[in-house]
Formats: sequence, C-alpha cells, structure tokens
Amino acid sequence: MNWETFPDYETLSQHAAEILLDAIRADAKVVLGLPTGNTPLGMYARVVAACAREYHCFRDVVTFNLDEYVGIPRDHPGSYFTFMQRHLFSHVDIEPANTYIPNGAAPDLAVECSRYEKTIRNIGGLGLTFLGLGSNGHIAFNEPGTPFDSRTHVVALSESTRKANAAFFLDQPVPTHAITMGIATILDSREIVLLASGEKKRDAIERLRTGVQSVDFPASALWNHSNVRVLIA
Ligand code: GLP
Repeated sequence: MNWETFPDYETLSQHAAEILLDAIRADAKVVLGLPTGNTPLGMYARVVAACAREYHCFRDVVTFNLDEYVGIPRDHPGSYFTFMQRHLFSHVDIEPANTYIPNGAAPDLAVECSRYEKTIRNIGGLGLTFLGLGSNGHIAFNEPGTPFDSRTHVVALSESTRKANAAFFLDQPVPTHAITMGIATILDSREIVLLASGEKKRDAIERLRTGVQSVDFPASALWNHSNVRVLIA
C-alpha cells in the first residue's frame, strides 16, 4: 500500500483529479470505478474544469459506480444516479450508455446484482477504481461483517451510515438498503485509489495503517491488493 499525505483537502483533490486524468490520457478507453459521497467532490470538480479545456476527455471512457440505494427511482434527488449527473456526467462528453450504475429500482434485485457483475466482467474488468472510506471502515456500501470474497449484492445499511448520508436526503428518510459492488469485485480492479479526508476518518485510517485484516473492518481487505494508493488529508 502506498500512502500519500496532503496538507489539505484541496491538494488531495487536485492530486486525485490528476490520477484520474492521467489514466484517461494513458488509455482513452479506461474503465473507471467511481465513488460518491463528499470526499470525491473536489476531485470531480477539478476533473470537470480540466475537461472543459481538454476537449473529448471522456469520449471513450467507461464508468461503473460502486453502489446505489434501493427503493428510490434513479431521478430521486438523493440517488447516486442524480449525484453522478450533477457532479460529473452532465459536464463531460461521456456517452450515457457507458455510465453504469446499479439499478436500485429493479424489480428483481438479485438479477440486477448478477447482471451488474457480469457487465463489469464482459467489459474486461475495472481498470482504476476510486474509493471513499466510511468512518466504520466501509468501502462502497460493504459494511463491517461483509466477506472479502463478496460480489455485487444487496446490503442493509447501518444506522451510522444512514445518518452520515442524511444530508443528501434533506428531510426525507434515507433508504434502508443499497446495492453495492462486493469487496472481491473491487479487489479485481487493476488499480485502486482510496481517498480519505478530515478528522472523522482519522481513526479508520489509523486502523487501516496497522495492516491487521478483519471482516469487521472492510477497508482492511485492500491489503490483499498489490496496487493501492491511499491519499489522506
Ligand atoms: C457512502 C458511500 C461510500 C463512501 C462513503 C463515505 O456511504 N456509499 O462509497 O465512501 O459514503 O462518504 P464521505 O466521502 O461523504 O465521507
């Protein structure tokens, strides 16, 4: 694991944006795994600004989001579909057909999970995946207790995770379930970049740094991967 510490959130975001843009410059057809949450917002804003200058940035890029809430339509203001349109997709020249997000409103969620997993595989797997970090150590929506060999599946969200995401739902209830890529799905990505910023992530980062692996702390599965960069501010 490669650790990089930055003086502030802005510098971390700039660096993360450069990693993402460099991946596109190296391979215009790169397959990206993309996170939501507050942490990647600065990265997305910088990528959008850079792509206003570099015409055709995203023309052949393929993206897979890590997760999506269950039981809300994709145009719900709190959905990750809405988040991605607002912060990235509507500002760059990506083909909508190349932006994959699990469908949390699918009639059969088990079918949707295996379809998502198969789509990733058929496209040749994830190339570069960005992750945020839950303060309880979750990655995507893989909560503590999730087996390291898990694939895309439905999860019940913990109370702390629902509380942490309440701001995105204003006065509406946060969904109780989500579809998430599994830990094994994420670990199949050729490169992984984990972003963590702020006091609320300090304990989780320190626990990750110990290298002790436990299903109680999902991010510790990243020690099984040979190409992980952890960016901290
Ligand atoms: C949500 C997302 C995760 C994200 C986490 C951290 O639970 N599903 O993918 O990493 O929030 O969010 P934040 O960056 O807002 O702290």
